[in-house]
Amino acid sequence: MIATEQPDVSLQWLHEGHAGSLHRLLQENRTHLTEHGDYREQVSTSLDVIRSELSAANGLRFGILVRDALVGRIDLVPVEPPQFGLGYWLAKNATGQGYATAAVRALVAYAATELGASDIYAGVTHGNARSEALLRRTGFVAVARFDTYTRFHRSLAASSIQD
Ligand SMILES: CC(C)(COP(=O)(O)OP(=O)(O)OC[C@H]1O[C@@H](n2cnc3c(N)ncnc32)[C@H](O)[C@@H]1OP(=O)(O)O)[C@@H](O)C(=O)NCCC(=O)NCCS
Repeated sequence: MIATEQPDVSLQWLHEGHAGSLHRLLQENRTHLTEHGDYREQVSTSLDVIRSELSAANGLRFGILVRDALVGRIDLVPVEPPQFGLGYWLAKNATGQGYATAAVRALVAYAATELGASDIYAGVTHGNARSEALLRRTGFVAVARFDTYTRFHRSLAASSIQD
């Protein structure tokens, strides 16, 4: 479990036991999650496939929990360690309360201290203003613009991990 700046919000390693609630959350938030063209594959993933993904002992996948309820997911992707990618989503009814901000800050700190990460990158589809705002709020800067998305970067120099 990883604590965050919000006492009610924590990150927990996702495991097989979360498959049902994760699948349900994806189904309930199909429109919200695919609004900008992302997560189309995930919302169509069957419960069995989610269960087998979560039972594999690889990956840095975390549930975002408010008290004990799963409200979203955040992942570190070991693209080229010590450089990592970052992905995240919240259920629609969990947005607007700083939960994703708390989750990103906590996972960035975890990546720096526990994984020795040097850089974290995230790609945001054009038009996803909430995700861009979240990344800017947590110290990321836009470093490259592509046809469909902007790449954001956060350096994990020791002096900047408290941002
Ligand atoms: C991207 C996404 C996670 C952002 O969610 P979000 O709710 O905007 O982000 P947060 O949880 O950090 O909440 C920030 C909001 O809570 C408010 N807030 C309240 N308390 C807060 C606190 N303690 N700290 C920070 N913000 C707080 C902020 O003012 C902000 O409100 P605003 O949007 O009216 O400005 C969400 O829109 C989402 O899941 N989208 C679909 C999936 C997706 O696009 N994923 C990203 C792909 S790159």
